[in-house]
Amino acid sequence: MLKKIDAIIRKLEDDKSFDYHPRFRIEKKELLDIAFSKYDIKSAAELGCVWGIDCSYGIYALEKFKLNKVKMVDTHWTDTAMERVSNYPEIEVFKDNFGAEHMPQSIGNVDAVILFDVLLHQVAPDWTRLLEMYACHAEYFIIFNQDWIKSNLTTRLLDLGEEEYFKNVPHNINEAPYNTLFDNLYEKHPLHDRIWRDVHHVWQWGIVSDDLISVMKKLGFRLEYFSNHGELSYLKSFEEHSYIFKKIR
Ligand SMILES: C[S@@+](CC[C@H](N)C(=O)[O-])C[C@H]1O[C@@H](n2cnc3c(N)ncnc32)[C@H](O)[C@@H]1O
Repeated sequence: MLKKIDAIIRKLEDDKSFDYHPRFRIEKKELLDIAFSKYDIKSAAELGCVWGIDCSYGIYALEKFKLNKVKMVDTHWTDTAMERVSNYPEIEVFKDNFGAEHMPQSIGNVDAVILFDVLLHQVAPDWTRLLEMYACHAEYFIIFNQDWIKSNLTTRLLDLGEEEYFKNVPHNINEAPYNTLFDNLYEKHPLHDRIWRDVHHVWQWGIVSDDLISVMKKLGFRLEYFSNHGELSYLKSFEEHSYIFKKIR
């Protein structure tokens, strides 16, 4: 319902961001607009840019703010995403796990790292280590995350056990890959070089917002901007939050 109202308002406002993708989120557009208009950000690495959106956020920022470099990173590229990014000489594609130790070096220094809907999926390395790995390679972190509000403890969701897990993630026990997840937790995944428990395409973490802010502070970043978009309509354990962090100089 809210999505329908949002779509109607945006049509009335003649908002062109829908042209990028039907699933383009207004909250993420606002976050990009604030980050790229307020700060001197000319290059970015978008970590996890493909699923359901085919690189639209990075392309939007590139076109609107005339960025000179965008590094797009994902393990699961689609033909559509590859075709779209091939139109932009400013875009460099990385088909790899951005948690791999060599990746921050391979991607190189950028003004900003963009992490939209990806932090809660990160294990081996965990989300905290991932932020640490990229902290010395960027001046800004632009983050959109579903944060855990069910308790004030950051929680590894799989440790809740099968029943509680499915009460707290927006996926169904009958839906792939979730239907085989708990039977195979410690088995090697056929596509990823790791056990099922550690793959990034399932919900992994309930991250408490204060913990994210505190980790970034320890890494030398100040919270410049925060916005709370409220609870997920279909899942009361999470709230969606936007963040901009800036390196303290
Ligand atoms: C939930 S989707 C989010 C897509 C987009 N950022 C958005 O906001 O709509 C997560 C994407 O990140 C990718 N991803 C997650 N963790 C990753 C990792 N460690 N290395 C590479 N890609 C990853 C997934 O393959 C997927 O395309």
